[in-house]
Amino acid sequence: MPDVFDPYAHDRPMILPSILSADFTKLGSEIDDVLDSGGDALHIDIMDGHFVRTVSFGPVVVKAARQAAPEAYLDCHLMVTRPEEVAPQLIAAGADGITFHAELADNVRRTLADLNSSVESDGVDIGVAINPMTPAEAVFPILDEVRLVLVMSVVPGASGQSFMPSVLDKCEAIKRRLRPDQRLEIDGGISVDTIGRARSAGVDWFVAASAIFGESNRADAIAALRAGLS
Ligand code: DX5
Ligand code: ZN
Repeated sequence: MPDVFDPYAHDRPMILPSILSADFTKLGSEIDDVLDSGGDALHIDIMDGHFVRTVSFGPVVVKAARQAAPEAYLDCHLMVTRPEEVAPQLIAAGADGITFHAELADNVRRTLADLNSSVESDGVDIGVAINPMTPAEAVFPILDEVRLVLVMSVVPGASGQSFMPSVLDKCEAIKRRLRPDQRLEIDGGISVDTIGRARSAGVDWFVAASAIFGESNRADAIAALRAGLS
């Protein structure tokens, strides 16, 4: 098995195409295209129809992505009510990062403990996500124990929504508390018009679905996003 690219080993902004907006009739070539076009890792949105109304996909698609791209980092965003039950299946399928939502329980520590005990987490990076209306403080109790904080800049459930600039203050507040080996990710409405503001607020990793898969030339789309960073 080839080594998987480790995005944590590099201190530069990363662009993560979200396959939610890929053409699933040709998922393998869609994945090849965005990675050959400069995507740094793949963002995979797992939705269970409970935590969010939408049902997206699960381990079968993670396994297909792993087969299509053996060296790509698979960043799995779990919009599910029972991450501790779903995560082991995703890891068996090839997930590298597992990010759960802080809104699941009153006690975010307990959710993390349940997740950690269900995934023999060697080699798997655990992250925590917060919705636009959730305050930054929701992740503070476990900040030392995760590698990634994902700030949602849209209400989760669908691609193609408008960026919510109100989350930028929260990004700054979280970034100030992160160690250099931790990463801040943003997800939702990232485009050439919004990516620069997110970068200024301290974001390291930028998820984009429609701004990449919605364009016919993915290399141009990713280059434009990168140009928007500076
Ligand atoms: C939304 C998902 C996002 C989504 C982003 O619930 O978590 O990852 O795919 O889509 P865009 O980039 O189109 O806002
Ligand atoms: Zn996502």
